[in-house]
Amino acid sequence: MAKLQQQHSNTAGWAPPSVQKRWLLTLLIMLSVSTLIAFFIKSAFDSCDPPHPHNFDVAASNKPAKVFSNSIKTAPSPLSFMKSKLVLLVSHELSLSGGPLLLMELAFLLRSVGTEVFWITIQKPSETDEVVYSLEQKMLVRGVQVLSAKGQEAIDTAFKADLVVLNTAVAGKWLDAVLKENVPRVLPKVLWWIHEMRGHYFKLDYVKHLPLVGGAMIDSHVTAEYWKNRTQERLRIKMPETYVVHLGNSKELMEVAEDSVAKRVLREHIRESLGVRDEDILFAIINSVSRGKGQDLFLRSFYESLQIIQVKKLKVPSMHAVIVGSDMSAQTKFETELRNYVMQKNIQDRVHFINKTLTVAPYLAAIDVLVQNSQVVS
Ligand SMILES: *[C@@H]1O[C@H](CO)[C@@H](O)[C@H](O)[C@H]1NC(C)=O
Ligand SMILES: *[C@@H]1O[C@H](CO)[C@@H](O)[C@H](O)[C@H]1NC(C)=O
Repeated sequence: MAKLQQQHSNTAGWAPPSVQKRWLLTLLIMLSVSTLIAFFIKSAFDSCDPPHPHNFDVAASNKPAKVFSNSIKTAPSPLSFMKSKLVLLVSHELSLSGGPLLLMELAFLLRSVGTEVFWITIQKPSETDEVVYSLEQKMLVRGVQVLSAKGQEAIDTAFKADLVVLNTAVAGKWLDAVLKENVPRVLPKVLWWIHEMRGHYFKLDYVKHLPLVGGAMIDSHVTAEYWKNRTQERLRIKMPETYVVHLGNSKELMEVAEDSVAKRVLREHIRESLGVRDEDILFAIINSVSRGKGQDLFLRSFYESLQIIQVKKLKVPSMHAVIVGSDMSAQTKFETELRNYVMQKNIQDRVHFINKTLTVAPYLAAIDVLVQNSQVVS
């Protein structure tokens, strides 16, 4: 974190205290990245987990990427115990949003140590979808086997698997729908990777099997605590053994981050395409546009800052905001609200919407401040 802060916020000291305070009140400014990869570690599955030398809790240890890529070169991968194991990954959908992309990164990490990886997408659009198609191709090329969510092959693979990863709370519905009476047989080897922290996912429908799975993996301590509370208080069920595994940074991002020439080229290119000058301050939020991700708060804060600057006649560089993760075909209502707000406040020339993309490195290189919506429950 500290490292990225240096890299991306070289101008973070620009704002007068009043403006900064306003920002901090509304938003937790964190320099982080949105395409993250996670390393699941730990001995959730003791049977296939001989002790391994490296603790891989990347985010928690705050180690610079260099240290860790060196350790990869000089020592066997900490995941090498997964070689020749069979892993079934169950995704609620296949899209350019955080959940599925994290799971894909996990698939590729596992492939890189010789794990046999199967992938299931529960919900697919009925027509051929360009995004689904290209993501599936990407997986096939890297040796991930893509299965239909239903049917005997899915069931057989779940039986054979050493590990079944259910991704997101919603994926819980797959268990009963497909495995039916065989659910209990599979539960002990399920690792349930939960990313959500909003109320409507606490439905017994989704999560009733939680107490009996092999383990749950959650991205932060706050979220883990929240789940523990909610499941107990609302649903009267108990969380299984829960592992908090912070998300790490992808190798691609770290490479760009360390290459000052690449960073400068990308920065110039993106800024030019947005009509943002080098001396301007560029804020960004990089997330699928949806209500829970806080793009509305981001825009409101941005607009308020612009007003404060105007009212107080502050001498600061001109400010721009970019929202990466636009998808007018999915979250139409919310995004329309956002776009209307921008029009209404007449800040179209300051706010830029960018479609969802796998390639976020150029945007990270181009911006000065990445704003991350606070995940703290209040
Ligand atoms: C969990 O529940 C306790 C008691 O109900 C409460 O004091 C605490 O703040 C809750 N924690 C979270 C993270 O919701
Ligand atoms: C962004 O996505 C929309 C569909 O949601 C599409 O019409 C538009 O052309 C895309 N823009 C770019 C620059 O790719």
